[in-house]
Amino acid sequence: MITYREANSFDLPIFVSLDKQLFPYSPWSSAQYKEEFSSPTRHFVVALDESKTIVGYAGVFAPGETEADILTVGVIPEHRGKGIAKALMALITDWAKHQGSTAMMLEVKTDNIEAIALYKTLGYSKLNIRKDYFGAGLDAQVMRLELP
Ligand SMILES: CC(C)(COP(=O)(O)OP(=O)(O)OC[C@H]1O[C@@H](n2cnc3c(N)ncnc32)[C@H](O)[C@@H]1OP(=O)(O)O)[C@@H](O)C(=O)NCCC(=O)NCCS
Repeated sequence: MITYREANSFDLPIFVSLDKQLFPYSPWSSAQYKEEFSSPTRHFVVALDESKTIVGYAGVFAPGETEADILTVGVIPEHRGKGIAKALMALITDWAKHQGSTAMMLEVKTDNIEAIALYKTLGYSKLNIRKDYFGAGLDAQVMRLELP
């Protein structure tokens, strides 16, 4: 059974290591994660398998009564297609709602078919394209979900 909990600083090395695997084009460093984890406007959650190993994670920046930004969401290949990303997205969206967020925003690589499908399933719509957002030749699609 997959369980979920808020992330803590002991999880930081796992985030860094999984980032290299899941986001080789834009992994965050340990210093970046340390700073993000220490901010009260950020919230990170993890998914754990039966042996309490982290198999997925997500994070959001929600500064109050304005738009929130999805910072990351990832699931290791062995555990994909089981609804884990959907559950992680629900957890960080609920947290953003409690912070007073009015909408959710995110940037996703234009060729990331699985992630774009995930966001569409959750009701996100395409806003615009940001050229070279993830580096030269790596464009991002900006997506947005209005919160009730
Ligand atoms: C994108 C990602 C997070 C999805 O994780 P997941 O746990 O497999 O997703 P879920 O099982 O929760 O699927 C939720 C929805 O996403 C869509 N989806 C997920 N994988 C898909 C695939 N391979 N093909 C088509 N749609 C897919 C479906 O709409 C699915 O809903 P459904 O099962 O009701 O049809 C995962 O593939 C991943 O970690 N990719 C690498 C990291 C990444 O790119 N993250 C996004 C950064 S913007």
